[in-house]
Amino acid sequence: MNTKILKPTKENISCCAKLIKSGEVVGMPTETVYGLAANAFDEAAVKKIFEAKKRPADNPLIVHIADIEMLKGLVKDVPDIAFDVCKRFWPGPLTVVLPKSDKIPLITSGGLDTVGIRLPSNEVARELIRASGLPLAAPSANLSGSPSPTTASHVYDDLNGRIPAILDGGKCSVGVESTVISFESDIIRLLRPGRISVDDLKTVTTNVIIDNGVLEVISNDTRVKSPGMKYKHYSPKADVTLIDGSAEFFERYVSERNSAETYALIFDGDNISNDIKSIKYGGSSEQQAERIFAVLREIDKIGAKKVYARCPSKEGIGLAVYNRMLRAAGFKVIKEGD
Ligand code: TXA
Ligand code: MG
Repeated sequence: MNTKILKPTKENISCCAKLIKSGEVVGMPTETVYGLAANAFDEAAVKKIFEAKKRPADNPLIVHIADIEMLKGLVKDVPDIAFDVCKRFWPGPLTVVLPKSDKIPLITSGGLDTVGIRLPSNEVARELIRASGLPLAAPSANLSGSPSPTTASHVYDDLNGRIPAILDGGKCSVGVESTVISFESDIIRLLRPGRISVDDLKTVTTNVIIDNGVLEVISNDTRVKSPGMKYKHYSPKADVTLIDGSAEFFERYVSERNSAETYALIFDGDNISNDIKSIKYGGSSEQQAERIFAVLREIDKIGAKKVYARCPSKEGIGLAVYNRMLRAAGFKVIKEGD
């Protein structure tokens, strides 16, 4: 199979919608990362998603809708708090986990009795959902374990020959995957941090809990609330370590361990000795989110073996960047003063 990269014209979107209606999977841009989309109701099509990206079967998929009306048939009931959150942040980078209706097959929900639903703001994604007339199950369109794709060519690099087409919507504006939340009576539980931050969620209710899986290692046999968190993720081949401390501490720490295959991931505005090869990954947390996955792909391309990264801020969308970097680093963090 030859994978086509298609400009998101009306004709191409309608061609991709036809592919989806016939049980195929298609690469789709969203504002967060690219997704690998198929008919959420079609077990055989959803199976193709799991096969194409070599995803473990117990890791559930997010179902994408084009308007809030589509939610009704997919979930059993929507508590008031969930409805308030959706009205406030949709369309946008937020996924809500709710009890699933019988229309969602278990393969889509990874065997769970809940389903994650998201209404993306990206117009190409919404056009594709509308043109197919179906809710679209779509995980990130990377091979399982590698960094999420934020351009059509990242998707191509991972899935060329495994899927028929990718709609090229350009570079994703957010750059990290959606915030995933679930509800426990009037409490919001944050399962995965993203662009919609804890402070954003607190504008709806102050009862927001950060799940342990966001910042801690989850062992493979623990029952977790969000199965995706237990898998090794975003892992470049290079060995990554996060350095939590000042720019001076960072430079000293890396200088003492520098070699030909060592790279430093630093912030825009950092100055570091010319003896250390470095890549900048943004100044603000927003920029870091936008670039992080492209940078993680780049460090493998240039053959870095050992990577030391400045530790991102944990505020706002920074918590999402930190969460992804922790996983890329296999939770290895060196703290200044320890
Ligand atoms: O931004 C995004 O969310 C992207 C784009 C394509 O929409 N999608 C994405 O999907 O990141 P994926 O499959 O790579 O990550 C989905 C995450 C996983 O960690 C999964 O465990 C969690 O959401 N999830 C999905 N359904 C769930 C459920 N019913 N209960 C708990 N966690 C769920
Ligand atoms: Mg993913």
